[in-house]
Formats: sequence, C-alpha cells, structure tokens
Amino acid sequence: MVPAPSWVSYGPQAKIRSKSFIPITTDIKNGYRLQAAELDKTCSGEDIPQKILILNNPSNPTGSVHTPDELRSLAEVCRKHGVIVISDEIYALTKFGEIPFEGIAGYYPEGTITTSGVSKAFSAGGWRLGYAMIPDELNEITRPLSAFVSETFSCVSAPIQYAVLPGFENYESVRNHVELCRDIHGAAGEFLQQRFTEIGLNCPEPQGAFYLFPDFENFKDLLTSRGINNSEELSKRLLEETGVALLPGSDFYMPDDFMGVRVASVDYDGAQLMQDFPQSGKATLEMYTSLFPRLADACERLENWLQWIYYCI
Ligand SMILES: Cc1ncc(COP(=O)(O)O)c(C=O)c1O
Repeated sequence: MVPAPSWVSYGPQAKIRSKSFIPITTDIKNGYRLQAAELDKTCSGEDIPQKILILNNPSNPTGSVHTPDELRSLAEVCRKHGVIVISDEIYALTKFGEIPFEGIAGYYPEGTITTSGVSKAFSAGGWRLGYAMIPDELNEITRPLSAFVSETFSCVSAPIQYAVLPGFENYESVRNHVELCRDIHGAAGEFLQQRFTEIGLNCPEPQGAFYLFPDFENFKDLLTSRGINNSEELSKRLLEETGVALLPGSDFYMPDDFMGVRVASVDYDGAQLMQDFPQSGKATLEMYTSLFPRLADACERLENWLQWIYYCI
C-alpha cells in the first residue's frame, strides 16, 4: 500500500516482485498526508496475508510532513492490522517547516523498517548509498536481505562506504552544508507555493523535500475545452508550449483525470546560490525573484499560458 500521490518508483519496485500494489488516494484538505481512517478502510477491505505500507515522510511529490499525532494514529492502525511499515525518510534532514520531524518508528518500533540514503540531504546523488534500520522484531528479514544485497548490484562498494563515513561519524563537519541546503529548499518551496496560489492553482505548502504538487483543477473546464483531459496531456502541452517541465500526477498514482502535477524546485545554479543566499536570517519575499530567476520565469510562463489558452480557441 502506498499513499497516492507517492514517488514513482514504489510501483515498479513492488511489481518487479509480483506484489499487489494498492494506492490509497489522499485528500488535498489534509495536505495529501495519509490519514489513519483511510489506511484502516483499505486494510479492512483487502484480503492480503502480509500487508506492507510504504510511507514517505517528508514526501516526494508533495513536500508534506506528517504530524506526530498523525503518526501515532497511523501506528495504531498498523498494529491493529499487523502492517509492516517501510518508512522512507530520505528527506528527513531537508525538513524546513514548523512541524517537528518524527519518524513513525517512534510510535511503531516493532513493525517499522526505516530507510534513507545520502543522495538528498548530503547532496550525494548518484553515489548509490542507502540504508535500512530493521528492528529486532523483524530480524528474520535481516539475514536474507544481507545475503541478497551482497550478491547483487544493491551492494554499496567499499570506497563509497568510506567516502560517506565522515558525514555520519562527524555530523558537525557537514551540518552547515545540510542546513544551508535545507534553508534554500524551504525558500524555493515558499516562493513557488505563493506564486502558484497567485496564479490560481491549488497547492499545499511544502514542509520538506524539494517538490510541490499543485493542481489545475480550478481550470479544468477551460483545459477540457482545449482538448486537455488528463495530467499527462497537461504536462505534455506545458512542456511543448511553455518549455516548463512538470511530471503528470498520474505518474504518482493519482487518478488520470486529476489535473495535478509534480514540480521540482531545484532549477538554479546551486554553487552561485550558496554564495548569494543570506546566511543569517531569512530570505525575504523581495529577494526570491533574484535568488530563483528560473523558477520565477517558469511561474510567469505558466501564468501567461493560462491567459493565452483562454483567448486561443
Ligand atoms: C522518496 C524517494 N525515496 C528514495 C529515493 C532514492 O534516492 P537515490 O536512489 O537517488 O538515493 C528518491 C529519489 O528521488 C525519492 O524521491
């Protein structure tokens, strides 16, 4: 089971093992965060001997972060139905919102496998180092999993393991970098959410990661009348007619006709931005356009495009 919207790779990962894959559509009014009642309903309706929930917190694609109360309630439901949780917390250190970050393992230690990696917070994309924390209660998984990864491409090579050790052994040596990146992601997310809202899109405020999930539902009639009937057609037209690249919400297991899209907020010169970004205090609204010129330009193109298709019959 995965909350929808969720990251694109979970589906293929389940399918490669011939497992059933059940998206649970979440509600924008809850910021697309999976609610205990939604999980309970799905668990009660499915006759599957071993249920597994993949929970990505903070979330790709929405940037949402579960509250401690939500995690507590989800844990109760998981315990009731004997669900194993794989908690993908790869964006934990890129959480920037007000809500304190907690993992569901704090409420459901006996049934949670927490996973993470170095590609996001440590800016080490492509290094292919990930890890999982498996509780003693699930240790029957540990041996076969270790045997499996040591025999396959999943094994992390020794040089990579040594290369990332300083980040774990001496977090202070990387803290400034991690926190500066987090602040930049927070500012970019705030900027885009404000602009999307001005344009008339619905978009929950991101609390972590570097993604947003706006929707064009307010323009649905207009889009349909221009031959755009689903999020895939919407993304294609936007790419062709504005040059703005967005991923269709249907890739994230949302219903086809839902006009949601996934936006990545990292289109800038990172090295330059790390120099320009105010180190103390916060970036102000006035600074956003000059800090994130390409994001500002993309928003303007979306806004102009919506006006253009209105007049273009
Ligand atoms: C939610 C989530 N989990 C895991 C990953 C995997 O990260 P990587 O394999 O690049 O370390 C990604 C990458 O985009 C992701 O968004």
